[in-house]
Amino acid sequence: MTAKRPYFIVLEGGEGSGKSTQIKLLVEWLKNEGIDTLGVRDPGGPKGAEEIRQLLLTGATDRWDKITEVLMYCAARRELLARHIQPALASGQWVVSDRFTDSTYAYQGYGHGVPLHLLKQLSEVVVADAVPDLVLVLDIDPKLGLERALTGKNRATHEIRFESMTLDFHQRLRQGYKELTAASPDTHVMLNADQTVEELHKAITDVVRERLLSCSERKSA
Ligand code: TMP
Repeated sequence: MTAKRPYFIVLEGGEGSGKSTQIKLLVEWLKNEGIDTLGVRDPGGPKGAEEIRQLLLTGATDRWDKITEVLMYCAARRELLARHIQPALASGQWVVSDRFTDSTYAYQGYGHGVPLHLLKQLSEVVVADAVPDLVLVLDIDPKLGLERALTGKNRATHEIRFESMTLDFHQRLRQGYKELTAASPDTHVMLNADQTVEELHKAITDVVRERLLSCSERKSA
């Protein structure tokens, strides 16, 4: 299948929502549909952004001042956008990102209490009009999600700074995701992540098919 224009999809969610597994499956699925797709993660991608990721995700939970932390996420995101996402979209590839701006609203805004209007202003500078076409928010009860995240085999790394924060923090960011989704029904869809990998993958591809693929087909018809 060939789409008229490349789309930018983001997967969001709290810890242990199964996001990384679902990203891999979605990228594979899109490629099987004949769509050239690039998978990226925020923070991450270009070398400088991966270096910032290490600074952000390792060490003590109070390692960074709240505003410093926001600026570091913004710096990493700008690198990812300018060096990987925008060139990929310009060359006709679809992009699927593991997190993007909504993570900053949820974690730094709702979680740490950084005023949302400040985050919005920064986002206008960092992201401008490169906003995602579709944001899939994987929703999970933080108690279950944290249990999964802290015992999962992919957590043998040192990237556990956010998993170490209080349950209350994770409840706040879940609420944040709910409010962000409700505020942008045209782009945001929340899915229940407490289901099997296969069921969740099907739910995700159903939304992509309905919201993006059928729309491309209509446009190219
Ligand atoms: P992940 O790759 O396991 O999702 O790890 C990224 C971590 O960084 C996760 O705990 C959420 C956090 N994060 C923020 O706090 N703010 C942000 O803007 C982004 C992109 C991630």
